[in-house]
Amino acid sequence: MVVSPRTQVNDSVPRPVVTLRGVWKSFGAVAALRDARLDLFGGEAHALVGENGAGKSTLIKILAGVHRPDAGVLELDGRPVEFHSPSEARAAGLAVIYQEPALFPDLTVAENLFVGRQPRGRFGRIDEAAMNGEARELFRRLAVEIDPARPARGMSIADQQIVEIAKAISLDARVLIMDEPTAALSGVEVERLFVVARALRDEGTAVLFISHRFSEVEALCQRVTVMRDGAHVSTDLLADVSIDQIVRRMVGRELDALFVKQEVEPGEVVLEVEGLSRAGVYQDVSFQVRGGEIVALAGLVGAGRSEVAQGVFGVDSRDGGTVRVAGRVLPAGSPRAAMAAGVALVPEDRRQQGLVLDLSILRNTTLPRARGLSRFGFLTGGAERREAREWTRRLRTKYGDLGDPVGTLSGGNQQKVVLAKWLSTRPKVLIVDEPTRGIDIGTKAEVHRLMSELAAEGVAILMISSELPEVLGMADRVLVMREGRLVAELPRAEATEEAVIFAATGQEAAA
Ligand SMILES: Nc1ncnc2c1ncn2[C@@H]1O[C@H](COP(=O)(O)OP(=O)(O)OP(=O)(O)O)[C@@H](O)[C@H]1O
Ligand SMILES: [Mg+2]
Repeated sequence: MVVSPRTQVNDSVPRPVVTLRGVWKSFGAVAALRDARLDLFGGEAHALVGENGAGKSTLIKILAGVHRPDAGVLELDGRPVEFHSPSEARAAGLAVIYQEPALFPDLTVAENLFVGRQPRGRFGRIDEAAMNGEARELFRRLAVEIDPARPARGMSIADQQIVEIAKAISLDARVLIMDEPTAALSGVEVERLFVVARALRDEGTAVLFISHRFSEVEALCQRVTVMRDGAHVSTDLLADVSIDQIVRRMVGRELDALFVKQEVEPGEVVLEVEGLSRAGVYQDVSFQVRGGEIVALAGLVGAGRSEVAQGVFGVDSRDGGTVRVAGRVLPAGSPRAAMAAGVALVPEDRRQQGLVLDLSILRNTTLPRARGLSRFGFLTGGAERREAREWTRRLRTKYGDLGDPVGTLSGGNQQKVVLAKWLSTRPKVLIVDEPTRGIDIGTKAEVHRLMSELAAEGVAILMISSELPEVLGMADRVLVMREGRLVAELPRAEATEEAVIFAATGQEAAA
């Protein structure tokens, strides 16, 4: 693929590869895009930032041919185009990498790369050797090691994304669009993705990147567009604006200061985990959490933290160990018993475990405590509604109507509903897995405040987080896991970035 870094109209003015102008899109009563605009240039990575529900994913879905705009212009190389389907967008050179790629699990990596266009040999048979060879060549170009002949099933999300990018390259994509691709990746995986994205950018590809993490935006992008409430706010070279300015434009108000956790005198031990084991996943994990305490479970992605949380809650069966809540042993493998004992789990994967996407925002928010709100066996609708409204207000959830299906909310707003759903159960033990993943910077402080308030009321909180500032800011104690084992316990005073990274990796942090 040979594309000059900037397609030139004449010698001075670079011409965008992609232009969106005056784009409007509504879903029922919700105006998702209101005069949105975007220019993408070859050889440049462009960040798209904005609060949850600002319209970023919707804009991308218009580029991807998933949604048709109600009004507006889409131009490729200065010529107006209309995409009626994702395949038309792909054929025009626009490749979209989503947060959770959708490879065919039963096909090999190479088959996924070339699905529908496999190289064929004599008698029309698929030439597997040629296919694997081409796949190997693509991975070599990206400087990644993935076996083309292995099945896609069981691959990490990071590797699956790389396969999607390799596919984009093999289709000669000129525009690479990534919607929060890093949300489910570890630090090392993010860096590897960026190496690949930078290489493509430097070969002339236009890159569009969405993330709620500014360190990533700064590491990859040259230009940044801010959106608010579906509208274009600003576009600048990243070198010309400060992060503070960008954030202020995103939220359209002064930002709450970073939340400072309340000091709480810890009470009795509420959650007691002893010798928890699951073959090949985690071994001999023991710890306690007192009422009023926030204990963080830190470690690399894949260290077994989420699995331990699920083991405690009873989602997965375990091979050994006991879990006690307020002194009473929980039966293994029964989330129902865990919930009855006052344990709540806010899962990492909200789509699979956190929400019933077809049910309304209202029902999802109040689902687990529907019994508490009922009188004489039926729901008191008014109370339910008031409660849901209060939570959506506190978490700044953007929605049209409480009766809308939760699946129509933006990614971050779905996460807020999951949080509301479990925070509102007034649990004894609250387990939160990546509580602020995908949540915009304007709401993070509010989530932290809510957690701190619950701790002050005596709730024992176990928090899994990959974001060190969140771990260090919120935790009274930090437990660090590595390869399925608890390897360190650091009281708040000793929990520094270096100490946590050292325990999580077994290596000194790079200066
Ligand atoms: N299919 C749909 N049906 C109804 N409403 C929708 C649909 N898709 C998006 N919306 C609404 O459009 C608005 C913009 O959503 P979008 O997903 O574009 O936000 P976003 O900027 O990507 O947010 P996030 O950072 O949370 O991912 C939201 O209010 C959302 O509820
Ligand atoms: Mg989104």
